[in-house]
Amino acid sequence: MKDLQTLESEITANLLAADNLDKVENIRIAELGKKGRVSMLMRELGKMNAEEKKEFGPKLNQLKNNLNDAISARKNTLEEKVLNRKLQSESVDISLSAVSVDNGSIHPISQVMDEVTEIFTEMGFSVAEGPEIEEDFYNFTALNIPEEHPARQMHDTFYFPEDENGNRKVLRTHTSPVQIRTMLSGEPPYRIIAPGRTYRNDSDATHTPMFHQVEALVIDKNIHMGHLKWCIEEFARKFFEIDNVKIRFRPSYFPFTEPSAEVDIGCAFKDGEVLIGEGDDWLEIMGCGMVNERVLENVNLDPKEYQGFAFGLGLDRIAMLKWGIPDLRDFFAADLRWLKHYGFQALDIPSLSTRASTVKGSK
Ligand code: PHE
Repeated sequence: MKDLQTLESEITANLLAADNLDKVENIRIAELGKKGRVSMLMRELGKMNAEEKKEFGPKLNQLKNNLNDAISARKNTLEEKVLNRKLQSESVDISLSAVSVDNGSIHPISQVMDEVTEIFTEMGFSVAEGPEIEEDFYNFTALNIPEEHPARQMHDTFYFPEDENGNRKVLRTHTSPVQIRTMLSGEPPYRIIAPGRTYRNDSDATHTPMFHQVEALVIDKNIHMGHLKWCIEEFARKFFEIDNVKIRFRPSYFPFTEPSAEVDIGCAFKDGEVLIGEGDDWLEIMGCGMVNERVLENVNLDPKEYQGFAFGLGLDRIAMLKWGIPDLRDFFAADLRWLKHYGFQALDIPSLSTRASTVKGSK
């Protein structure tokens, strides 16, 4: 039998010379595999007499263990080398400024949605969603706008063809159906906002067939108009970043709120520009009111126990006001020059703490 010491040195030297994991594995198979040299020696043990077994047995076992250790050690070293090489070649250049990335920008509508969401979530609202292809029931009936109600005409609704049951779906004309979906799906109290796309058959400098609203709904015990007023004023102050913003509530009518109001914001028109927080002019920014008792009953809430307020805000409108964008239709014209001018940088993340950095135009 070959000198075990020599065998071990030979194999260990081979292992050290093996410069990749495949080579190490080949050595393992050649020595310790089923038909490997060391395995064959183990088999020879069976043919030996007791004396020889006593001498060679432990030595062979020792050899096997040493080789196993050497193989694992070599594998570890090589794996580490592979990893280091990978880490080096895949290193991230953290000095590369993401702000200087010149491709694409955040659309003002996305930015305004993020900012509005940020302000209301800070106040404790959560975000709710509903479908844009909506059932007549949620868009109208449950909101106290029955068939033949004149308010249906005011909405310039896009209707889908009738289905086999004679029902017509609509492209939602406002985000108010999310009020109904919210109240039918959980338990009060509710405090949600629902930003999203809305559709009406209307098109000029201040109307596009698709536009954006954010709905707000608060339902709880003892909610009154003072809560509504505070909430809207607080929002306007934060959104327009002006402390002494002027807000006016004008009596109005919506079938789903009673009493209802339209909210105007104080502004000045100077040299074709709108300046918020100055002057004696007013611009309408939203509709609001206390949720109509009939709506509460439609969603099985007892109006004696629960009350609330709701409002619907035109997101495109407030984006135009905040950043001085003159024509609504440009929002959806996909004109790269416009997008470059009015768009925002990807890292211009809205938050109340970084609000000062949201500037008009990114360049
Ligand atoms: N849904 C109304 C609209 O689109 C706005 C509104 C929402 C009014 C909630 C009152 C309460 O005109």
